[in-house]
Amino acid sequence: MSSQPAASQNAATIQPAKGKLGIMTAGMGAVCTTLIAGVEAVRRGIAKPIGSLTQMGTIRLGKRTENNTPLIKDFVPLASLDDLVFTGWDIFGGNLYEAARTAQVLDRDQLDQIRPYLESIEPLPAVFDQHYVKRLTAKKAKTGKNKCDLASQIRNDIAEFKSKTDRQVLIWTGSTEIFMEETAVHQSIEAFERGLTENDPGIAPSQMYAWAALKEGIPFINGAPNLTVDIPALNELSRKMNAPICGKDFKTGQTMIKSVLAPMFKTRMLGVSGWYSTNILGNRDGEVLDDPESFKTKEESKLGLLDIILQPELYPVLYKDIYHKVRINYYPPRGDNKEGWDNIDIFGWLGYPMQIKIDFLCRDSILAAPIVLDLALFLDLAQRAGMKGIQEWLSFYFKSPQTAPGLYPEHDVFIQLMKLKNTLRYLRGEDLITHLGLEYYD
Ligand SMILES: NC(=O)c1ccc[n+]([C@@H]2O[C@H](COP(=O)([O-])OP(=O)(O)OC[C@H]3O[C@@H](n4cnc5c(N)ncnc54)[C@H](O)[C@@H]3O)[C@@H](O)[C@H]2O)c1
Repeated sequence: MSSQPAASQNAATIQPAKGKLGIMTAGMGAVCTTLIAGVEAVRRGIAKPIGSLTQMGTIRLGKRTENNTPLIKDFVPLASLDDLVFTGWDIFGGNLYEAARTAQVLDRDQLDQIRPYLESIEPLPAVFDQHYVKRLTAKKAKTGKNKCDLASQIRNDIAEFKSKTDRQVLIWTGSTEIFMEETAVHQSIEAFERGLTENDPGIAPSQMYAWAALKEGIPFINGAPNLTVDIPALNELSRKMNAPICGKDFKTGQTMIKSVLAPMFKTRMLGVSGWYSTNILGNRDGEVLDDPESFKTKEESKLGLLDIILQPELYPVLYKDIYHKVRINYYPPRGDNKEGWDNIDIFGWLGYPMQIKIDFLCRDSILAAPIVLDLALFLDLAQRAGMKGIQEWLSFYFKSPQTAPGLYPEHDVFIQLMKLKNTLRYLRGEDLITHLGLEYYD
């Protein structure tokens, strides 16, 4: 057996991160305003980018004895925060200062320090249809003769922004849409474009933004659990237009904890008989998720990972009878400060039961904002490195990672991180780190 780490390969050609990177967000609510206000606060030196791997993370290169651990942002050419420019769409009138005040995530004092900047950004009128998000009513929405016309208006907005920036990415930070499944209209680019003209109900607004972005050759990130780009038609368009895609549903709170604890149980061959997760949440996202049809989309996204991590088909004695329940309760007094409880019933040696209780007093958008930043910077890097289609190496950031058809996703957050870092090493022609480590003992 070779005791050497995986051989190095040729570095990929990566275009430099020159000029302005335009970040467009479909949906400018709590997560988006926390991201934009946060980037501006960091640029002004009044806050630190905590939680962001691209800004704070390091990457080990070579052997452990080499002590070579640069910052990720010094290792791969990422856009600098100073070069980020923001725009986006929402259905509410007003500017981002008002939107951030409504979201009530950041302190007023902090917002006031960057008030003129936030006031200078006003969301563009959105493409919205209440059929897909029942709890919201639009104040500012585009009108058009059919879905194709509306999606083309988004393309025009993108084209306009292209003239002011050098590269762009588009992120869905909009609300969670109703649960949808793949139908015939999603199977090819031709079927999808026919569906746009024929107003097919299988095409949701988030998919119209995604189509518009990809048609313009712009990478697309799906931050919600919506079907959006997780369909053959948009996957095909992504590859055709050299515009990478990834999704779905930012992994921030309870699911992140699950993706850490579940692998622990499995590595120690501890059984799990039940996992009950509940949340109270009072922001607009919580209000939207109070609608059963939007909740179903979220529920599917949150439920999937345990079966995939624990593999009950391989370990029936340990995981076949697990009872897994997820609840989200809309509770306005808490605003964005979600509380997530988990009760986990596990069993050990000879079947003796034990319990673990978690009470995570978190802040939804504080956890999500750095993830959105990282995804925008990494997806821009991916495009400059010539990558297209689904970017599974970014599954680290998602509750329900998109994968190639027929492939199950990796949910274990540490495997996901290894995959991400090895992809960066691969792009730069560095040795991949396998953790085999025999070479230290030769
Ligand atoms: N930790 C987190 O906060 C977290 C984690 C995972 C996923 N998400 C998802 O991220 C999304 C954003 O979360 P949030 O807390 O910012 O919610 P939010 O309700 O504060 O913001 C969403 C915004 O999207 C807008 N919107 C809805 N439909 C739109 C459309 N068709 N076009 C343009 N704008 C539209 C809404 O008006 C709203 O302002 C949600 O789907 C949420 O489920 C959030």
